[in-house]
Amino acid sequence: MKKSIRARLFFYTIGLVMFLLALLFIMNSFYFEKYYLGLKKNQLSSTANEIEEMLQGGYSSDEIYARFEKIESEAGIKIALFSGNMDNIYSSFAKGRMGGSPWNLINRQIIEILQDKDVTFGEYEHPMTGTVFLTYAKKLEGGYIALLQIPMAAVEESISANHTFHIYAAAITLLIGLIGVFIFSKGFVRPILDIADIARRVEKLDFSKKYGGGRQDEIGLLGESINSMSDRLEGVIESLNTANEQLRVEIEKEKRIDMMRKDFIAAVSHELKTPVALIQGYSEGLRDNIANESKKTFYCDVIEDEARRMGALVSELLELSRLESGSMKLELSEFHMEELVNAVVAKYSLAAEERSIALDIQKTGEEANVWADRDKIQRALVNYLDNAFKNVDTGGKVSVRLIQSGAAVRVEVENTGSNIPENELDMIWNQFYKLDKSRSRSLGGSGLGLSIVKEIASLHNGNCGAYNTESGVVFWLEIPSGS
Ligand SMILES: Nc1ncnc2c1ncn2[C@@H]1O[C@H](COP(=O)(O)OP(=O)(O)OP(=O)(O)O)[C@@H](O)[C@H]1O
Ligand SMILES: [Mg+2]
Repeated sequence: MKKSIRARLFFYTIGLVMFLLALLFIMNSFYFEKYYLGLKKNQLSSTANEIEEMLQGGYSSDEIYARFEKIESEAGIKIALFSGNMDNIYSSFAKGRMGGSPWNLINRQIIEILQDKDVTFGEYEHPMTGTVFLTYAKKLEGGYIALLQIPMAAVEESISANHTFHIYAAAITLLIGLIGVFIFSKGFVRPILDIADIARRVEKLDFSKKYGGGRQDEIGLLGESINSMSDRLEGVIESLNTANEQLRVEIEKEKRIDMMRKDFIAAVSHELKTPVALIQGYSEGLRDNIANESKKTFYCDVIEDEARRMGALVSELLELSRLESGSMKLELSEFHMEELVNAVVAKYSLAAEERSIALDIQKTGEEANVWADRDKIQRALVNYLDNAFKNVDTGGKVSVRLIQSGAAVRVEVENTGSNIPENELDMIWNQFYKLDKSRSRSLGGSGLGLSIVKEIASLHNGNCGAYNTESGVVFWLEIPSGS
């Protein structure tokens, strides 16, 4: 076992118990005999006193002998009584009353001792039988001598029985002590081990375990302080983490904004570079008069075209920045989406006829009003249709679907033609994002249309998106129905 508190507690307590038992044992073996002999002496001397009192108390000799016999049988004391002239009046050794029976040697020896003293006490061996007696002899009032004896064998048996009993009692006490201390130390140490475990976990920033001993003592107090420490630490670390996370998000946002700004400037410059270069080239040609009359018209057309393109780009940029900055106020009104869709699609019917493109409108659901900025919604629809006509294959089809419900109004514009790569379906909504740069330029796009649609949708708490079909692409716009 390692040197844990529990082991220490166990060994110290057991050590103490063993020490106390050993002390008891030593005291028992060294002093019990003396004590017991003292006890016996007291018993004998008080019996002698009782005999003395009886002799003086005027009792009949029958009464006195009856009393003697009772003492003998109850206390195991053998009594001999002598008269002043050494006649043996009573002796239990001879089982009864005796008048002038022979003296035994030992009694004579004791009585001799009593010539000089009033009392004698000690162990005397019977000269014939060899039996040892604890003997008490006393000169009594009236010249009597009382001789009281207890066989040493009985005394020694008591002492040794007492010894054996103590050994058994010590062994049992030790065993019970061992079990008791084992259980007690376990219960005592468990909360300490619990607290140590909690502290170890806290060190590893694991705050899941809490002390729940509910004790009212110092250990309970320690447990409670560990709990509150763990709680506070958890709180502090949590708030630190939150602050850290916020900071990280903020830095990330800053970075993204910075990158977007750079991208934006690069894109705008790039968009403007081509028209500016064209205008510059053609206007230099005009000034240098390198072209003939017919070519002049073409030069002027190009310059005009590019200038218009630049103008359109700048106004789209302005519109987008106003939408994004939130300075643009929506001019809300209630109108029929169906009527707006009809009007927008009608503008494309001529173009569709010229290019032999099938154009149709399908409507589903109850007619519903929307509460929205009509111009902005129109702007979004125009861009969808513009894009559809720019990307539809020759002899293809453009379908507009209006799906109305109580909750929202949804417009879908589908055109046959090539799909948009899945990974670019999200990116086309970014500013200046074009799938095919050269083609887009020839079609006059700047790549801002869809980002404007996205802004318009979000300003209306609506949504927009695009997905591929087997034969083309669908663009959709959803606006909550007006109340
Ligand atoms: N119906 C469509 N089919 C295939 N590609 C499309 C379709 N609509 C949009 N795109 C792609 O998404 C890009 C972004 O469209 P967006 O409307 O934002 O820009 P644009 O049409 O090029 O320019 P602008 O709308 O500003 O004149 C387009 O350049 C085109 O590559
Ligand atoms: Mg467009």
